Amino acid sequence: MNSKDIVYVNGAFVPRAEARISVEDRGFVFGDGVYEVLRVINARPFAAKFHNDRLKRSLEGVRISLAGGASPESLTEIANQLLRDNGLLQGEATIYMQVTRGVATRAHNFPPPDLPPTIYISVARFTPYSEFAQTGAPAITHPDIRWGRCDLKTLNLLPNVLASQTAKERGAFEAMLIRDGVVTEGTKTNFFGVVDGSLRTHPSDTHILPGITRSVLRDLARTVNIDFDETPIRAEEIPRLSELFLTGTTTDVMPVVRLDDKPVGKGKPGELTKKLQRVLAESLASGGD
Ligand code: PDD
Repeated sequence: MNSKDIVYVNGAFVPRAEARISVEDRGFVFGDGVYEVLRVINARPFAAKFHNDRLKRSLEGVRISLAGGASPESLTEIANQLLRDNGLLQGEATIYMQVTRGVATRAHNFPPPDLPPTIYISVARFTPYSEFAQTGAPAITHPDIRWGRCDLKTLNLLPNVLASQTAKERGAFEAMLIRDGVVTEGTKTNFFGVVDGSLRTHPSDTHILPGITRSVLRDLARTVNIDFDETPIRAEEIPRLSELFLTGTTTDVMPVVRLDDKPVGKGKPGELTKKLQRVLAESLASGGD
């Protein structure tokens, strides 16, 4: 929350408390929509092009069109306006953007194609998780019970919500999801581990969200001679992990030092993790240039 707290809904800039959507919105009734979360540092949305491209892919993947030829770029413009209106031009903030298939009487099949989508955008002050970034965070393993298109950033987050809550109840920061015996990702993050000296993460397929932080980090890692091996970590390899970390727009590179109440490696952030933490922090500080 910020003192002004203006949000954008369907063409109007309004105080959050006055923002309204219909009970027949398909996002509310079916979770029929997609979203994005961006990081903003000193008024500059980080990796905006990657987020715009992913939003486009998610929209196409669920067959929602933005009304009137609007583009993801135009939504970023609206977000920039919100940053100004809310006095968030200095320091850190996040942008939340959501597009649903619009308002229609409940029916599973699509409403007519000319129905305008519902567009909601808000911004908020953001404070990074600096303590866990230093000390490392605890995580748990959890079955991945999600659907077959986790590459689309949809509003259907109930499996993520349930796993995240289980993690919280067990004193952990994140749940590392396991499907068919391999580590896929977290409920809101991508996971990376070091096994026998090589840095491994799940390939970018339909079982994970193609994280923007993951992509940015891949390019940055090459500059310090570190490569990712996209051979997923198998559950039976977990005891051999010497390092483990997660990445995300709101988590950066966060070391994971305990998994299911057992130490990972030496039980403290590893050297490779700290190196990648540093290169990402530098990139964020320089606005991604
Ligand atoms: N979550 N995997 C999942 C399932 C996610 O929801 C996210 C992002 C990520 C990391 O992606 P990125 O690096 O683009 O943030 C991976 C956002 C932050 C959220 O739902 O709040």
